[in-house]
Amino acid sequence: MSAVRSSHWDTVYSEKGEAQTSWFRARLDESLRLIDALDLARDQPVLDVGGGRSTLVDDLLSRGFRDVSVLDLSGVALDETRRRLGAKADAVHWVVGDVTRAEWPPVALWHDRAVLHFLVDADERARYVAAASCTVQAGGHAVIGVFAADGPERCSGLPVARYDAPALAALFKDSFELIATSRDVHRTPAGGSQAFTYAVLRRRGGDNA
Ligand SMILES: C[S@@+](CC[C@H](N)C(=O)[O-])C[C@H]1O[C@@H](n2cnc3c(N)ncnc32)[C@H](O)[C@@H]1O
Repeated sequence: MSAVRSSHWDTVYSEKGEAQTSWFRARLDESLRLIDALDLARDQPVLDVGGGRSTLVDDLLSRGFRDVSVLDLSGVALDETRRRLGAKADAVHWVVGDVTRAEWPPVALWHDRAVLHFLVDADERARYVAAASCTVQAGGHAVIGVFAADGPERCSGLPVARYDAPALAALFKDSFELIATSRDVHRTPAGGSQAFTYAVLRRRGGDNA
């Protein structure tokens, strides 16, 4: 499944410019607002899951974060992002992989905008939650943005799962407590609207079980 998925995303990123992808925005304002509110120390490790070509990494570096990783299924997307960053890309850990299929080093912040909602299979979702639970240190945070209950039913030709805030909190309830939620309406490059639900979650406990 991962190989099929990564080839889907590599094709999308090879064939479409930013303005041709509905999820593109010049700056991930809502993610940044929620991350800024956490006031993290700049030496804390941060992971952007499914970062693609987004400019979140640029903004994290410009805020002084020194331990930033970007993970994505698509090597094509990450190569483009590295090229955009130029020399600054050397300061970032780039990982091509499936978030549901591997172990990641511990982080203080897990960020995901528009990735989790592609996991429509309950087992895959459970693996995502397990990965986040193992990766986020106790007391660390996850900032997750997914399509809202009234958001699109598909994206990039793929089906999606949609969430209101209680449903998103319920998915993570065994390991994370809900700190904040918000709603963001994204204007797509083509002029459409996509409603997102965001959750800020705090990893419980001192054991990463
Ligand atoms: C809609 S795009 C969002 C990209 C970026 N987060 C943004 O907001 O611009 C979804 C991204 O998730 C990546 N992706 C999808 N499934 C994934 C998985 N299982 N593991 C890692 N990345 C994945 C895709 O390659 C794509 O870059």
